[in-house]
Amino acid sequence: MRTITSIEDLRQRARRRVPKMFFDYADSGSYAEQTLRSNRADLERIKFRQRALVDVSQRDLGTTIIGARAALPLALAPIGLCGMQWGDGEILACRAAHAAGIPFTLSTMSICAIEDVAAAVDQPFWFQLYVMKDRGFAKSLVERAAAAQCSALVLTIDLQVLGQRHADVKNGMTVPPEIRVRNVIDIATKPRWALSALRGKRKTFGNLAGHVRGMENVNSLAQWIRGQFDPALSWKDVEWIRSLWPGKLIIKGVLDVEDARIAAKTGASAIVVSNHGGRQLDGAPSSISALPKVADAVGAEIEIMFDGGIRSGQDLMRALALGARSCMIGRSYIYGLGAGGQAGVARAIEIIRDEFDVTMALCGVNRIGDIDRRVIAAD
Ligand SMILES: Cc1cc2nc3c(=O)[nH]c(=O)nc-3n(C[C@H](O)[C@H](O)[C@H](O)COP(=O)(O)O)c2cc1C
Repeated sequence: MRTITSIEDLRQRARRRVPKMFFDYADSGSYAEQTLRSNRADLERIKFRQRALVDVSQRDLGTTIIGARAALPLALAPIGLCGMQWGDGEILACRAAHAAGIPFTLSTMSICAIEDVAAAVDQPFWFQLYVMKDRGFAKSLVERAAAAQCSALVLTIDLQVLGQRHADVKNGMTVPPEIRVRNVIDIATKPRWALSALRGKRKTFGNLAGHVRGMENVNSLAQWIRGQFDPALSWKDVEWIRSLWPGKLIIKGVLDVEDARIAAKTGASAIVVSNHGGRQLDGAPSSISALPKVADAVGAEIEIMFDGGIRSGQDLMRALALGARSCMIGRSYIYGLGAGGQAGVARAIEIIRDEFDVTMALCGVNRIGDIDRRVIAAD
């Protein structure tokens, strides 16, 4: 990992090591990928004020996220099929996050089940919930997260219907998955991945398999999932989840100020300003352009987290400057996982941490709490 010096290096290595259909699944956005691109482009446009001769010898990257200590203002985002980038990927990513002193979020759509991860790690993690049509199943997931002592529930609200990623259709990554000769040949040329996948505990959606009656094989399970996203979901359901889960709640997928105002009144601990990494509404604004408006509207009422396009410590600084208290990364760590399992995720976090540290220094900042819009250069 010594010659890996950027998240882009991890991405290139993951591209070589992970079967195309899974790499593309992670890398892509929905439709024309306009929102995916603007997540990055709008971040890159933001320039810092370079400050000189400020004593920055006492820098401290530590902070709190929803009241708990974190070594960095960073968390790993929920990623469906994370364990398809590398066998047992969720466990490995969780261990890397905990070793770095930051939270890990397990997706409802993970390969390893809540119980698998809980048994394999020694600290609590966060669980992300999709509320499906089968509300009894949603309730049981909340109960399982509580039994596993998850320290926060991340309720994702921006997936009532599924945005299409063209690459997934073309690659046969649809649910149910299509087994094509091309895919089989591709996998045969990725021995490292194949070995890790073979060794992995599970090959399908771990939180669902065995818990949904009559859905024992992969295909029927996948069909069940496709039919389970719920267009009728509403803020009433958030109240319902609130009543089931007395612990810390994070509402993920807020982009609009009106939604932020409603979310701030739910009693949640935080919201995540997010467009699902450009994978849902194509044509939605970039996350970073939405952030300052949301922060101005509700930042005094609720803790604000951010994700979308973070590929460096500089990006982390940009989001904190524009009103986030902490950020989540999705693809940045997924590339690390595909590039080298747990060591790759650890490297991704380390790269972002080191870049962030230097950026803080060169912006003349010692503490996370001192980062605000003053570090941004005027146009
Ligand atoms: C491959 C992939 C799978 C994802 N699966 C989920 C998921 O299961 N639940 C969820 O809330 N968000 C999911 N997301 C969105 C991420 O949690 C996060 O919002 C997004 O990745 C942030 O953008 P970034 O990848 O540019 O950092 C997924 C994103 C990717 C790239």
